[in-house]
Amino acid sequence: MVTIAVVNQKGGVAKTTTSVNLAVGLAALGWRVLLIDLDPQAHSTLALRIDSDEVMAEHTVASLFYDGKVEDILVDTIEPKLKLIPASIHLATAVESLYSVIFREVKLQKALDVVKDQFDYVILDSGPNLGVLSINSIVAADKVLIPTRLSMYSLDGLNALLNTIAKVKQGPAEYDWRILLTMVKGYGKERQAAAWNILAPLSDRILQTQIRETEAVEKSQMNEDEDEIMAVVLQKSSGNRGAQDYRALVKELVELWPA
Ligand SMILES: Nc1ncnc2c1ncn2[C@@H]1O[C@H](COP(=O)(O)OP(=O)(O)O)[C@@H](O)[C@H]1O
Ligand SMILES: [Mg+2]
Repeated sequence: MVTIAVVNQKGGVAKTTTSVNLAVGLAALGWRVLLIDLDPQAHSTLALRIDSDEVMAEHTVASLFYDGKVEDILVDTIEPKLKLIPASIHLATAVESLYSVIFREVKLQKALDVVKDQFDYVILDSGPNLGVLSINSIVAADKVLIPTRLSMYSLDGLNALLNTIAKVKQGPAEYDWRILLTMVKGYGKERQAAAWNILAPLSDRILQTQIRETEAVEKSQMNEDEDEIMAVVLQKSSGNRGAQDYRALVKELVELWPA
């Protein structure tokens, strides 16, 4: 089982879009996939058309902190091979009471250990912070995927994130981490020179696949709730750019991080 934490404390860098499309793309190839929504905003949950208003705190990942089992909280999705542990706003309140739970940073890891023969890939979508849920995600993961946009604003904080990951992961366990450039715009490198300068020392960590900015991703979120639901571009068979790029990402990651 390969566990991929999709993390970045910045919001709006395509963590959720990447988590959902990676999960759907892997499942469509026949891999057994578990997507865990660790963000109380529940965008991954909504993207898979699961009504998060119906999801109580005890059916979210929070239950794993009180010795709940993965099997008891996962739900089916639109994609037969893809299971989801949903989130809801109740997750936010549940998280607040976690500060008294001992060994809280390793709870997700322990819970996933039990199901390691049942899944090929586990994808962990995190919220825009480095709180207890994101730390659990980094601890549980053997692969860390950091989506980022190519702007100074988005890259600000990248070093802090890398330091946190290094601190959390110190010890003998092997792990790998990569940067995914998202919402890449068409214009040349000159206008993004400052951003590229920051990334230069990390160039061997940047994935080959870049996710271009595309209307296919933007538009598919306009369904019901304006800015709530974002794209599951891979569900559509069309060859739009969003689908092309995420398909390329799935291919690259299956080779880089084989199950
Ligand atoms: N490749 C893309 N092109 C255009 N818009 C995108 C792309 N990827 C994501 N978006 C949009 O950007 C916003 C933030 O993406 P999201 O995945 O929710 O980020 P995060 O989970 O990091 O907060 C969403 O409205 C999403 O639809
Ligand atoms: Mg998100």
